Amino acid sequence: MSISVAIIGLGSRGLQTYAPCQNDFPDKLKIVAVADIIPEKVDIARRRYGIADEMCFGSGEELLARPKLADAAFICTMDGQHYAHAKAALEKGYDLLLEKPISPDADECRELFEIAGKLGRKVCVCHVLRYTPFYNELKRLLDEGAVGEVTSVQHIENVVYWHQAHSFVRGNWRNSTETSPMILQKCCHDMDLLVWLLGRRAVKVQSFGGLYEFRPERAPKGSAERCVDCAVRADCPFDAEKIYLTNDATGFLKGHKAWPCDVLSPEPTEQKLRDAIANGPYGRCVWHCDNDVVDHQVVNIEFEGGVTAQLTMCAFTKRGGRDTVILGTKGQIIANLSEEMIHVLPFGGDNYDIDITKLASGFGGHAGGDTRLVEEFIDIVGGGEPGIRTTTLADSTESHYIAFAAERSRVEGGRTVEMSEYR
Ligand SMILES: NC(=O)c1ccc[n+]([C@@H]2O[C@H](COP(=O)([O-])OP(=O)(O)OC[C@H]3O[C@@H](n4cnc5c(N)ncnc54)[C@H](O)[C@@H]3O)[C@@H](O)[C@H]2O)c1
Repeated sequence: MSISVAIIGLGSRGLQTYAPCQNDFPDKLKIVAVADIIPEKVDIARRRYGIADEMCFGSGEELLARPKLADAAFICTMDGQHYAHAKAALEKGYDLLLEKPISPDADECRELFEIAGKLGRKVCVCHVLRYTPFYNELKRLLDEGAVGEVTSVQHIENVVYWHQAHSFVRGNWRNSTETSPMILQKCCHDMDLLVWLLGRRAVKVQSFGGLYEFRPERAPKGSAERCVDCAVRADCPFDAEKIYLTNDATGFLKGHKAWPCDVLSPEPTEQKLRDAIANGPYGRCVWHCDNDVVDHQVVNIEFEGGVTAQLTMCAFTKRGGRDTVILGTKGQIIANLSEEMIHVLPFGGDNYDIDITKLASGFGGHAGGDTRLVEEFIDIVGGGEPGIRTTTLADSTESHYIAFAAERSRVEGGRTVEMSEYR
């Protein structure tokens, strides 16, 4: 079975993550139409995937004004655009691979769920972590009762200091008037994982957090509006040249050509990056940006049956990934995504370790989640049944409600929010 696809939004996700899946699954996926408001990105997609000129569009609106052009649409525009693009695409007859968040607005999430149901469309929301070998193994352990019944979970989303600077201080998700709250943008995945792993719905949510570091009052003496003019950049880990050129984990000069460098320029070169750092938003001092989203937040959740979870999202980590401690009636699990290791500690039994790298291969793109998600979506559009890890709109909406409740609680000083306020 092969499906045809229209990609709307040719950014990090549409162009750099999902489009290359055509190379991974050449017999199953054919990109036939693309749209973006930036002509350079449309041109790159046209060249890379041999798309006919008349199927290259200057916006999602233009593409969606045409009769249905493909079996499915990938909605990869920015958070606040998903609703309008997804609604129009559903009405045109497309099945959807829909980037998260569904929408920054709870009513819009609800409405898309209803429209998709009424029209009988298939929609998978891109909660890619569900598709990783790591979380599949964790889910298996919990479902098989390896530590009895889970009573409590402690979960950390390690944002990483340079990722915070890139996305949430200088980049797309820095300002709450333009985009989603960070707890929705970054942690709807984590909320989704908690609901999925526990198999329970949330009942109450409470949250605290704020913007600690990236404010003008915290700027070091000698700093400037832009990194290139800064007198103290040598000591600054957030220096744009370090992040995009010389950092071992991300720098172009250390061999990293993809994200985050390709956000500054879709086909980066050293000169293009230097120009972007000198003149563009990603060269701004992290203490002198127009950001207001949080850099640390905690969320307490009570699930059905009195099960509890505590989530910490924090910018100030060197290591990425998620760390999860699961406390069950018959044992404990310590799971570390960045090391692909799960330690199981049964009460009264021998401890054992599960090294996920020995169970599977292919850990690129969100620990292997990105391509596995697309592969399953192709099967579902082709008539396959949704599986245990398929993130339907109903499942994803549940995770979004928790994030909305957490943000409401944080803004209202930590008030306990009943999930019935959303359902
Ligand atoms: N599933 C995940 O793990 C994951 C990871 C990162 C981002 N995301 C989500 O994916 C979405 C896209 O993120 P990104 O990092 O690719 O952002 P991006 O800014 O790189 O890409 C968005 C693209 O949409 C284009 N665009 C804007 N208006 C348009 C229009 N009217 N029609 C067509 N294209 C238009 C922009 O020019 C840009 O190229 C966001 O909602 C983000 O939250 C999901």
